[in-house]
Amino acid sequence: MMLVCICNGVSDSQIKQTLQNGASSFEEVHARLGVGGCCGECECYARSLVEESLNESAQASALARNAA
Ligand code: FES
Repeated sequence: MMLVCICNGVSDSQIKQTLQNGASSFEEVHARLGVGGCCGECECYARSLVEESLNESAQASALARNAA
């Protein structure tokens, strides 16, 4: 695990977990975990992590649909 937001002690796996639990944007992750709410240093990376993870799960469900 890697710490993404040092101010709030939020790791990449916590962000991915939050997305799995239904968050679908950086704003929702921010609302749930507080990422990026302090110094803002992590926001750029956190946003790209959220986008990457959402793309991955979109691809995974597209693959699952194609296989079905
Ligand atoms: S490191 Fe995330 S708000 Fe400061």
